Amino acid sequence: MMLGVAGQGLNDARYRLIADKIKAAIDAGGLRPGARLPSVRKLAAQFSVSLTTALKALRTLENEHYAEARPKSGFFVASVLSKFREHAKIIAPLDEQTELHLSLVGADCRVRLDLANGASSLYPLDKLALLLRKAGQSKPSALGSAVKGSGYEPLKTEIVRRAVSYGCHLEPAHLLITNGCIEALSLALRATLLPGDAVAVESPCYFVLLQMLRSLGLRVIEVPTGASGHVDVDKLVLLFSRKAVKAYVTLANVNNPLGKSIPSAAKATIAQRADEQGIVIIEDDIFGDTAFGGQRPFPMLAFSPNTILCGGFSKTLAPGLRIGWVYSRQYSRQLMMLKYTSSMGTSVPPQMAIAEMLSNGGYDAHLRRLRATLASQIRLMRETVLRCFPSGTRVSDPEGGYVLWVEMPKEALNVRALFIKAREWGIGIAPGHIFATDERYDHCFRLNAGYGWNELEREAIEILAKWCTDSLIGKGGE
Ligand SMILES: Cc1ncc(COP(=O)(O)O)c(C=O)c1O
Repeated sequence: MMLGVAGQGLNDARYRLIADKIKAAIDAGGLRPGARLPSVRKLAAQFSVSLTTALKALRTLENEHYAEARPKSGFFVASVLSKFREHAKIIAPLDEQTELHLSLVGADCRVRLDLANGASSLYPLDKLALLLRKAGQSKPSALGSAVKGSGYEPLKTEIVRRAVSYGCHLEPAHLLITNGCIEALSLALRATLLPGDAVAVESPCYFVLLQMLRSLGLRVIEVPTGASGHVDVDKLVLLFSRKAVKAYVTLANVNNPLGKSIPSAAKATIAQRADEQGIVIIEDDIFGDTAFGGQRPFPMLAFSPNTILCGGFSKTLAPGLRIGWVYSRQYSRQLMMLKYTSSMGTSVPPQMAIAEMLSNGGYDAHLRRLRATLASQIRLMRETVLRCFPSGTRVSDPEGGYVLWVEMPKEALNVRALFIKAREWGIGIAPGHIFATDERYDHCFRLNAGYGWNELEREAIEILAKWCTDSLIGKGGE
């Protein structure tokens, strides 16, 4: 290995230069995990630095988990590094069973516990229907001409105005209206990444996002949830410092399926570390407006201007209108080009209706009602799950949104079988295994509380609980 420091500068920066050289060699694969690193003496001679500086370089590598010291032997490339690399997985093609299960989530059923949205009564549909009619009448040309540009300007103005209240100062020129938040995410991934690039996601991960990453040929590292119920920040920033990923795709606010938001201080840390390492943050903030507390949580963009922020109205106004948006100062040109070649534009009348709803249609009053209803439905469903399911069952405690994440004792549940049995009874649930690239959530499932809380839902929860209890007893539990 040829190591040299060009134009040696300030004394105290030398150790950093040496450490970075060695890191680059490790990242490029020139130094394998477990390989011996040059001794302090050798490094000092090679770089014409003092023994103290050489030692500091090695200690820096150790602190950043690139190297490990072995007593009386010296420094070696950290052996866990390879594990991290292996973690960046190509998402395997779907097996037939998983493909079937994914196609059944959202298919017609009697009790709608599978999706992450609500009954029609949750949304101001009459008002929107009226506004849509008005849009068509006032601007018939919107129906008769081709759709061009980055979106309906009055809607962009409203999105920009609202963003100020959650700490984001958007420039309309960099805002693009999309066909739902899903299109926004897809454009953001394609604008910033190439097939084979590695992406960090929160685990469990929204299943459509996982499938999107797979279809784009991206590799994925699923970062586990920490004790506080949101992503393990230490593990995440470690991946950043090792340059193990190019991007972090986050549901930092009201995560799906866990319903937790990353606290502001942790967001600030993540944003700073991502910026230092040149990691792109792509944020799906579709549930941000559904947060139950008094204060709408700030998106990552409020902490790092480099974040690509994706939002939309499918969870707050009307899932059927398919209006979302993406904002990036840095990548807006690429996003707009990709939009042009993937769906050309976004239908104008729904944008007109939403713009009107946001400017003087009582969106805030509607949001207050929506959040209160969801919070109450979630609470009632959660209490029933805790009461009816076998001991050892854990249930998430969401800070917003529609869903609960249920974790059974591992031995109690084969969620794939439960999912099929439930569907035969007309009960839709979202099975845990579609939220990961492996079997780690085969004892979990997600429940939707958005369809209200009445006899039908209560009965469905009790039936699910009975099956799970029977299965646990059958395996010698309870
Ligand atoms: C996290 C997340 N992002 C995006 C979407 C979909 O957004 P849209 O319907 O606006 O495309 C969903 C829908 O469930 C979701 O859960």
